[in-house]
Order: sequence, then structure tokens, then C-alpha cells
Amino acid sequence: MASSRIESLLARMTVEEKVGQLGVFADMVRPFAPEVNPEANVSNAEQVLQQVREGRVGSLFNGVGAELGRQIQRVAVEESRLGIPVILAADVIHGMRTVFPIPLGEAASFEPELAERTARATAVEATAAGIHWTYAPAVDIARDQRWGRGAEGAGEDVVLGCAFAAARVRGFQGGDLRAADALLATPKHFAAYGAVAAGMEYNTVDIAPQTLRDVHLPPFQAAFAAGALSVMTSFNDINGVPASANRELLTEILRGEWNFPGVVISDYTADMELIAHGYASDARDATRKAFLAGMDMSMQSGFFADHLPALVEDGEVPVEALDAAVRRVLELKEAIGLFDDPYRSLDPAREADASYLPAHDALARDAARRSIVLLKNEGAVLPLRKAGQRIALVGPFARDRENIEGCWTLFGDKSRYVTLEAGLRAALADEALLAVEPGCGLEEPLDGGIDAAVAAARAADVVVLALGEPQRYSGEAQSRTEIVLPAAQQALAEAVAATDTPLVVLLRNGRALALHGAVRDAQAIAVTWFLGTQTGHGVADVLFGDYSPSARLPVSFPLASGQQPLFYNHPRTGRPELPEMKEFKARWREIPDAPLYPFGHGLGYTTFEYGVPSPSTGRLGWDETLTVTTTVTNTGAVAGEEVVQLYVHDRVASRVRPVRELKAFRKIALQPGESAQVAFTLDRHALAFTNPRGEYGAEPGLFDLWVCADALAGEAVQFELLGSGDSGLGIRD
Ligand code: NOJ
Repeated sequence: MASSRIESLLARMTVEEKVGQLGVFADMVRPFAPEVNPEANVSNAEQVLQQVREGRVGSLFNGVGAELGRQIQRVAVEESRLGIPVILAADVIHGMRTVFPIPLGEAASFEPELAERTARATAVEATAAGIHWTYAPAVDIARDQRWGRGAEGAGEDVVLGCAFAAARVRGFQGGDLRAADALLATPKHFAAYGAVAAGMEYNTVDIAPQTLRDVHLPPFQAAFAAGALSVMTSFNDINGVPASANRELLTEILRGEWNFPGVVISDYTADMELIAHGYASDARDATRKAFLAGMDMSMQSGFFADHLPALVEDGEVPVEALDAAVRRVLELKEAIGLFDDPYRSLDPAREADASYLPAHDALARDAARRSIVLLKNEGAVLPLRKAGQRIALVGPFARDRENIEGCWTLFGDKSRYVTLEAGLRAALADEALLAVEPGCGLEEPLDGGIDAAVAAARAADVVVLALGEPQRYSGEAQSRTEIVLPAAQQALAEAVAATDTPLVVLLRNGRALALHGAVRDAQAIAVTWFLGTQTGHGVADVLFGDYSPSARLPVSFPLASGQQPLFYNHPRTGRPELPEMKEFKARWREIPDAPLYPFGHGLGYTTFEYGVPSPSTGRLGWDETLTVTTTVTNTGAVAGEEVVQLYVHDRVASRVRPVRELKAFRKIALQPGESAQVAFTLDRHALAFTNPRGEYGAEPGLFDLWVCADALAGEAVQFELLGSGDSGLGIRD
């Protein structure tokens, strides 16, 4: 039962006013960049304010600014009949004014607590700029690197995805939703958006219900468990039913099984798109289907406003269902204290104070360096020296300012972006030792570019070659067929490598890439994703050894684009590849069934040795907990951090199980020569999966277990999960 305030409002609302609360429209009163939602331009600020005045707007999105936000709120509170405040939303994905690494990059840190801190900082800045509600985190599991929106999530793994989903929700929302700096979180896109066929954006999703349950839904559950009170539907269909009109998903699972009390918001015009899907015949039909499936708020199409009143009038939509949706929206507003203080998070003085917070730059720098994955480092070419070494910084990203932030950054303060050149210069003792040559454009050759780059490489002791994807290659609607570097950049790499000057490749990328030729063969390769505001400093910290890289791959790096979808936790096949036998095995004609670099891989400037994992018992009782302990030793000469990873494999089960699954991970810091005992606990819940009958539970039997440094490393130890008297098979957990 909602509060008496909400019940009394509901009792006084007309159907039009109720439907008004369910409408989400582009904020044309404070558009930050009108080209992002072009259709929205048809309505101007005055029209939007008039709609607010008439009680026809529940929420506005992607506007920014406290002063104008107050104006909107004043119209809602003082000039609309019922005075219901609007809730102001925006896509604040990985930073606001300060831009942090893209979420995929940050996931590489394997430090959810880092994501919690950057989300908190983001919330502080966003709420200062007149935003209550973010359409984040994206918690889509991305097992196909052709898909462009993997950049917004946490990669291919479920456990990592859950940890980051929860951390980001905690960070955005903070401890007290009513605090002026609490930013409501919206896990998205519900659901299985990352499972689009062939990695093609908006494509169909044909998926086993078990895979949906075990892989794509858990991060949403984790986000809800962390307190998220809204969720955004996805554009795709799932087994023929669009997610945005999918009653099984939006009502039976979400409300029935999970008791989700919050608001289901559509993605941009997703209700309208039911017509293009061929799932609804017209706008009225689309409205009815989306609403009755469980969508509460409609973004931008205006369908709910146009058709819900008549559907209620004609008895096709029960008024109780309308009331329930409105109640949820009002409860969301109440949860953040909007009824008591409609002007919360709309304080121009706070906005001015938060326009630049030095502590956030420091956090952005730390987040940047903690997100960089060192893939290889032959001959210890890294770290570089700050003095006495001539460095050629080559490549189209050397001086670039336009591809610093990565996708879905609407409000970043570009004036603060630190380029690679600036970062390296700031770190070097003698700037004269740095030569900078772009060599080529992002996608096209430069006149004389390669010659100049080759000359710079010849004159240098080491080349730092900054290559990668333009930032518009990842994010929404950016699927690729070949996940490779642009040809002009590859040509530059080949020419520079031919000089034989040692080569360090810095990759900028929003997905795993297939690396070829001179890039793959470089002495050192570091994946730098899109690191945000402090890019140059974060990279310099790693290049010069002020920070020993500690990030690990959250996505498998393939040998070739054609391997996609390639993910480490794939089900076992009947014909696995064997070292001694390759014909008639699960592999490609040209390449093996293996990544170039596996999930979990990453190097630092030291080395770690793992002892044999020691389980507390070889026979795990049904209700018992197993503790597995491993000694990890820093065997190198410098301090470093290691991501200790625990994987399991279910030997025999009623459904073919993955070759390995990550179950836990922990980042530890060790001084040279230091050892630590790392202990993980495991019980049957961690071993559960959805069986062919759709039941969730663990099955007794033998398991392999690894504690190791990546998804292909380590020696397995075994344990047995014992049944619960009557065998335990298929027991719902
Ligand atoms: C479409 C995107 O899919 C979604 O992630 C975003 O939140 C909305 N547009 C609003 O901009």
C-alpha cells in the first residue's frame, strides 16, 4: 500500500493526469545537444512546459542544468492542477562532467568497489546539474564482440557482471535515496539485449530459456538486490516476443518471481517499435500490448498519452492496472523525496561548486590506470624510463581530443580532457625526448604520415603506437562485422614495426578486437579502452611504471573476427580440440578453438606464482560450505596487484555445462617476495543452474575447481557435491 499522500493523489487524478505520469519526453527545456534525439526537436521548450502545466509529463530526460530545472519544477508544482513534481532523468553512464573509463574498461579493473566510487562521484556531479535519475547501469552480458554496446556493460561474464551491476547501483544511489546527491539507477536493457543474433544491434534474440535465466537475468537481480527501483526494457524480441511487450519477462518474472516493486520504463520509442516488429497492428494495439505486459512508462512515443485513456474507457485496460503503474511512478518520486522537496538536486549554487571537483580528477586518474590491461610485455620493454630514452609517440590517438571519452558521454567537460601527448609530457623528465607523429588519421592515410612516423621511429629508442577504434565504432547502433583496426592504422603499424625499434601498442577500443600482423606481434600491447578525462595521465602512470597494471580482460580477445561469439564459459562440445588431434574437432579450418588472450588475462610489472588450491573438504555436503585456500606469491621485483580468480566446472549434469565458470575473484596487493593465503568459500548455491525442465538448483556430483590467473590457467582440483538424502537433483534453490 502506497502512502496516504499517493493514495489521495490517485483518488483525485483524472485518467489523463494518470496517463500523464507515465509519459517520459525529451527535455527540450534544457537540451544539451539537440542532435542526439532529433525527433524531439519538433517540440520546443514552451510546448514541453505547457505539457508539464497540464499534468501530461511524468518525467523529462537528457536535459541538464539546475536553474532551468527549477523552472520546469516550478511549473509542475505551482502551475499544474495537482502539483506533482516531474522527475528529471538522463543517460549518465560513466561520468558527468568528469568522465570515467567506459564501463567495460572499468570492469577490467575487477574492482567493483572502484565502480562504486566512480558511480558515486558521477551521482554527485549529475545531481548537482539537475538530474535525479540515470538510465544506467547497462548490465547486458555481451558474449559477441561485434555488438557495439558491450562497451557500456561489464563484459562477457555473469559473476563479474553481477558484481559491477550491484556496485554501480550502490554508487549511483548512495546510502540514502532522499539525499540531494542520490541518483536513481536504472539497470538496462531488460533483457538479453546483448544476445542479439550475430551481434547486430536491435536484432532478434533466439535464446534457450535456461541461458536467459542463467546468463542474462542475474545482473538485473543483482542490481535490484542492491536497491535499483527502475528498469528499462530492451528493443529486441526474445524468442519472438518483443521484450517491451513481454509479459513473461515484465510481469511474471519481474513482479511474480522477483517481487520487483519499481518502475518499468520503455527504451526510446520501444512501444512504438512493436509495430515495426509486426507484433502490434497500430499505435493503440502497441500501447495495449506494452502496457498490459508490464511497461509502466513510455519514452518519447507519446503512445500511452494518446491511447491509454481510450483503452481504459473501452475496458481493454483495467483502471486498476493504470492505477498500479501510476502508483509505482509516484512511489519512485516519493522515494527520492520529491514531494517533500521538489527542488532537491536543483540548486544552482551546488551546481557551480560541483562544476570542477579536483578529487574527481584524482579518482578518474586512478580509475583510468586501474582499467588498463597489459596483454603482453616481451623483453620487459615496459615500463619506459622517464629520462634517457627517446620515445616516439605515434598514431592517430597521440594528440586526439575527440576520442577520449568513449560512447554515451553526453555532458563531459571537454576542456579538462588530457590527451596522450599531454600525459606523457607531464611525466617525462625531459620533454625533448618525446617526438609525436600521428602517422595517419583514424580511418584514412595522411599525406606523408607514414614516412614521418617511420622517421620518428628510427630516431627513437622505443615507439609507443596509439591505435584503435574511433569512439563512434562502439556504443548504440555500432555493430561491426570485422572487429579489427581500420586499414590505415594497420598499415601504419606495419611500417613502423619494420623499423625494428621496439614497439609498444596502446589500443583504444570499446570491445575486444582481433589483432593482426605487426600489432599482434608488437613487443608490448596494452588495452586502454576509452579512459575518460584523465586518459593521458592514466596511461602515463602505467607506461612509466608509476603504477603496475592490475586490470584483467573482461572479454576474450579473439584470434579472428569470425570466432564471434567467443566467450570463455561456453558449453562443452562432444568433440573438444585436443593438442594431439585437430581434425574433426570443434575448431575452425584456419584457427583453433581458442582466444588470442583469454578472459581474465592481464600482466603487471611483477610476476605471481600460485600454489595448489586446497579445498577444506573433498566432499561438500548439501548444506555445507567449502573453503578453498591458495597461496599466491609475488615472485617479481616490484609491488603489484593480482586478480585471483576461482573457476569451477560441473563434470556431469543434466544440461551440458560450461567448460569453466568464474565463481569468485579478488584483487590482492603484494610486495616483492610477499605471499598471501587467499581463501574463497563456495556452497551449492554457487553451483546451481537451470536444468532442462526449467528448475534451478545444483546437482550432486564431481566438480573441478581452479584458483588461477585467467580462464585458461591453473591445475584443477576436484571435489564432490553430495546429495541431500533424496539425491538433491533439480531442487529449486
Ligand atoms: C536509447 C538507448 O538504447 C538507451 O540506452 C537510452 O537510455 C535511451 N535511448 C535514452 O537516451
